[in-house]
Amino acid sequence: MLQDKTILLGISGGIAAYKSAELARLLVREGCSVQVIMTRSAKKFISPLTMHALTGRPVYSSLFDSGYRTATAHIQTAREPDLVIVAPATANILGKLTAGIADDFLSTVLLAVDLEKCPVILAPSMNTTMLENAAVKGNIFLLGKRGYVIADPNDGDLACGETGKGRMVEPLELLELIKKKLFSEKDYQGVNVLISAGPTREALDPVRFLSNHSSGKMGYALARAARERGANVVLVSGPTALEPPAGIDFRPVVSAREMYAVMMDKLEKADIVVKAAAVADYRPVENFSQKIKKAGEMQVNLVRNPDILKEIGAKKNKQFLVGFAAETEKLLEHARKKMEEKNLDMIVANDLGQKGAGFQVDTNIVRLLYQGGFVEDIPLMTKYHLSHLILDRIKDHRGR
Ligand code: PMT
Repeated sequence: MLQDKTILLGISGGIAAYKSAELARLLVREGCSVQVIMTRSAKKFISPLTMHALTGRPVYSSLFDSGYRTATAHIQTAREPDLVIVAPATANILGKLTAGIADDFLSTVLLAVDLEKCPVILAPSMNTTMLENAAVKGNIFLLGKRGYVIADPNDGDLACGETGKGRMVEPLELLELIKKKLFSEKDYQGVNVLISAGPTREALDPVRFLSNHSSGKMGYALARAARERGANVVLVSGPTALEPPAGIDFRPVVSAREMYAVMMDKLEKADIVVKAAAVADYRPVENFSQKIKKAGEMQVNLVRNPDILKEIGAKKNKQFLVGFAAETEKLLEHARKKMEEKNLDMIVANDLGQKGAGFQVDTNIVRLLYQGGFVEDIPLMTKYHLSHLILDRIKDHRGR
């Protein structure tokens, strides 16, 4: 996908520098040329030889060892790439970029990049207290306002032994961000994408219902990502606290039966259907018109709701059908079964037992299962970046 692209990868001195080797490997695997610039301290964390071996190009560290070997090498180096990424971006390099300081090759090249023509991604990585320091926070805010793309660090265990925000965004997630920035051209233009999100609520009486923990974040992130890529998006959503993305056809529903009716109504026009909603499999047999009063023991009889995805699977003609599976055990086994029973082209399996995956959180950890039995493991990343990755995979598999 990244053939013919040149990426400038700036590495400043932080422990996360080892992840940049993986980022370089992923970029090369995508077919692009990667030119690495390392600061002096970056070289203490990872060897230039490693980066040279991975990219097939010598690493630049100073004006005088760049390929150009001229007094204006910083300008030539800044004109070459289609995109620049600094990963990890330390407090120091962020501070220099904010203040316009150019005292080494990386900071000099960064100032020479024309942001109008070449996106620059900064992937901060540092201890939480440093990240929250007013100066660093202010610098990141200002850089974001000036048009730099900030890859907001993740929460988690930090190299210093503390836990908190400051972990550099994972390489695969950075790769998705790079693709997104390079191809903000609309690769889903004219494609009709029907997405379901959130929980359903199955009423028992006017004040009580059966439901689940779905926040809608996964489905809304998919809708936003698809819209950004030019798709005509219909988002059918159970009750959530989220603001629907702009520019989409938003269809709020409450119960599984309402979701079923809208999904079936919109199916014919859809090219791609993604069912991220957590639909209640059962509803109370009776929906009492008045609030049920306490009176000793009580039993609620349940009846099956329609399986929306299964029915779409049985009816589909041109549609590429993607389901989700949220499991607490035997993830692959259950996901495979659903894929088969519901006639899916792809299924996104979340392991609810993993921290950072599944309901409510902003991130997810999933396994993608495709027709033919191939399984792809996707590490922790934000639901938004995962959505772009899922859209990439749908694009790759739809034409097959
Ligand atoms: O909303 P978030 O808080 O961001 O959480 C995201 C999520 C965990 C809800 C999401 O990632 C997810 O996994 N959604 C599917 C959850 C689920 O209901 O899985 P399931 O195994 O019960 O259903 C399998 C598939 O069949 C799903 O695509 C579901 O939408 C669909 N289904 C299920 C039952 C039913 N009656 N009709 C359906 O269409």
